[in-house]
Amino acid sequence: MSDMTYRTLGRSGLRVSTVGLGCNNFGRPGSATESQEGTERVLHAAIEHGITLLDTADIYGYEYGRSESMMGRALAGRRDQVVIATKFGHADYDSPVPHWGSKGSRRYIRLAVEGSLTRLQTDWIDLYQLHTPDPTTPIDETLAALDELVGEGKIRYVGHSNLAAWQLVEAEHVARQRGGARFVSAQNEYSLLTRGADRELLPAAEAMGVGLLPYFPLYNGLFTGKFTRQGGPADSRIMRQRAHLVENAPWDRIEAYAAFCDERGTGMLEATIGWLLSRPAIASVIAGATTPEQIAQNAAAADAWAPSADELATIEAIFPTNEALTSY
Ligand SMILES: NC(=O)c1ccc[n+]([C@@H]2O[C@H](COP(=O)([O-])OP(=O)(O)OC[C@H]3O[C@@H](n4cnc5c(N)ncnc54)[C@H](OP(=O)(O)O)[C@@H]3O)[C@@H](O)[C@H]2O)c1
Repeated sequence: MSDMTYRTLGRSGLRVSTVGLGCNNFGRPGSATESQEGTERVLHAAIEHGITLLDTADIYGYEYGRSESMMGRALAGRRDQVVIATKFGHADYDSPVPHWGSKGSRRYIRLAVEGSLTRLQTDWIDLYQLHTPDPTTPIDETLAALDELVGEGKIRYVGHSNLAAWQLVEAEHVARQRGGARFVSAQNEYSLLTRGADRELLPAAEAMGVGLLPYFPLYNGLFTGKFTRQGGPADSRIMRQRAHLVENAPWDRIEAYAAFCDERGTGMLEATIGWLLSRPAIASVIAGATTPEQIAQNAAAADAWAPSADELATIEAIFPTNEALTSY
């Protein structure tokens, strides 16, 4: 049986598991989830462990649409058991959908959503997220187009990603003025080593009733406890593709954090997920995973450890927000 816990996503009726699954590993070359079989093992384990929130994007999978297509196949017959979050409109990636530089436009969104629905083999997307801001399209138009899709039942809720705090607040006020769909979630990078969202974004999200889904929550896996300053497993994403993250990490601080976890008899993964879930506005930790064993460990971390006020202060002393904002 699952010990998963669930939270409401922002000011909405959508409940999501507090540990979700980031799906940008599906199709990733060299990972255990490069194959359809590996992906299915991870997705099915997630459902077994009570993980409901699956976060993907049209661009994930190292080939446009690949992660969504793999998920569509893997979820055949199990669609009702999960909350599918996908994204459209990342400004920095190629898209087969013609856009001429405005991926938040009504025209682009209406074409993009059909592609995602087809690849995911579903009639509806639970959470449809604008991947990055589109400076060329007024947010009013993006919201109106998304609202139409909600009305047609093609999507249920809307979210955004990589917006600045002022853009989050602007979008909320535009939605209030026009009525209809509003953004219920924000995805921004946030972890013990990337705390930029602390200053403006988290308080804004909390004040506006927007749930935060932190991305790279484990800093690509650095906070799973399997790395030291000497390195980590050769088959990990970090060692295969991003060794600089180990080389440049503030190891004195991470070792102090490891000692803090040891003193409490908790693993680094459990402490990190517990810390994230204690932060304002956070609804779910959408950690990526490449094996069923990682899924089991991440799911169990949902209610394994919660920091006291003193422990939060100790973590803050190890990774001070202001220094994290500027120097890591
Ligand atoms: N909105 C955006 O712009 C944006 C940008 C980036 C990501 N995202 C979303 O955020 C999600 C999470 O980010 P992420 O997956 O890139 O990074 P992450 O969650 O910080 O790290 C995930 C990686 O850590 C390792 N790991 C996870 N659990 C583990 C465990 N229990 N034991 C050992 N290793 C473990 C796995 O890699 P290995 O097995 O390879 O070590 C896994 O792929 C993504 O999947 C995506 O959905 C969104």
